[in-house]
Amino acid sequence: MPIHTAAMTTATMAFASFPAQRPRRLRQSAALRALVRETSLAAGELIYPYFVVPGHGVERPINSMPGISQFSVDRMLHDVRQLLDLGVGGVILFGLAAQKDPVGSEAYAAHGVVPEAVRALKREYPELLIACDVCLCEYTDHGHCGVVEGEEILNDPTLSLLAKMSICLAEAGADIIAPSDMMDGRIRAIRLALDDAGFALVPLMAYSAKYASGFYGPFRDAANSSPQFGDRRSYQMDPANAREALKEIALDIGEGADIVMVKPALAYLDIIYRVRAITDRPLAAYNVSGEYAMVKAAAERGWIDERRIVLESLTSIKRAGADIIITYHALAAARWLAAEHGKP
Ligand code: PBG
Repeated sequence: MPIHTAAMTTATMAFASFPAQRPRRLRQSAALRALVRETSLAAGELIYPYFVVPGHGVERPINSMPGISQFSVDRMLHDVRQLLDLGVGGVILFGLAAQKDPVGSEAYAAHGVVPEAVRALKREYPELLIACDVCLCEYTDHGHCGVVEGEEILNDPTLSLLAKMSICLAEAGADIIAPSDMMDGRIRAIRLALDDAGFALVPLMAYSAKYASGFYGPFRDAANSSPQFGDRRSYQMDPANAREALKEIALDIGEGADIVMVKPALAYLDIIYRVRAITDRPLAAYNVSGEYAMVKAAAERGWIDERRIVLESLTSIKRAGADIIITYHALAAARWLAAEHGKP
């Protein structure tokens, strides 16, 4: 809360408390509540993730993420229609490799599954906003986000591969490049490479404060990207750290990030709030797979009201300070929001 607001509230309270002050007055009708509502949620602020697999006619449900499937390009083309009809802000694409190797070659192959998906989507729906995740973990046989030497995940040698992957996705027509690997210096390396290749106007959405989180569990099933040895703690952030998140955000902005991100979202609302206070850049929050799976599991058992919980959670992410939310609930939320506004 800005300081002047806090001061005014205190001053008002000093000479005018109950019964002059009755906060319940403004809660008496739906119209009043709508009039004084501080936070809004719109479909256009949501981004829906897709897991794209090689092949044709594939629509394979992901066990730990009810309602979410892996799609081959042809099936995804069909599925995307409803997102556009509902005004969802865009999609973010993750690819599953046909063939993995130590350096994740398929991640930067011109005819890899994601570049092909981008081309097909752009042909069919030129107006669709397409973000592409940039990371090697879905394409490396060891499952780490960078190249490895023994048990060490190497930083600098990974940068040129991430840059190659970014150029490959920009060439295919991606609207936003979103690096999620957490190597140091990758925003600068990717920005320079994109500029050099003639893509100076392709924006970067940096997964800046990405934590080493247990909430990614279902995603690693969905994207087949579990590390085959060790874990990601030498590159993703320690969940105990908040000041370090502000440092990561500042570094990424300095390197050229256009949009910054905090990930996960719900267990990190304090981080979103603190980042909001230090930057005017658009801020994205990733409501990750584990956060989605927990809601779906409880809803399936009838323990919670899914619609209420989802809209309340997404609103809390906005209230904390996010502008953009990447969420597997995007499609359902957009439907519920449209129903609230009396649209079909
Ligand atoms: C790739 C990546 C991950 C997620 C997004 N990009 C997995 C990871 O870092 O292990 C997680 C998304 C989710 O859980 O929904 N590095």
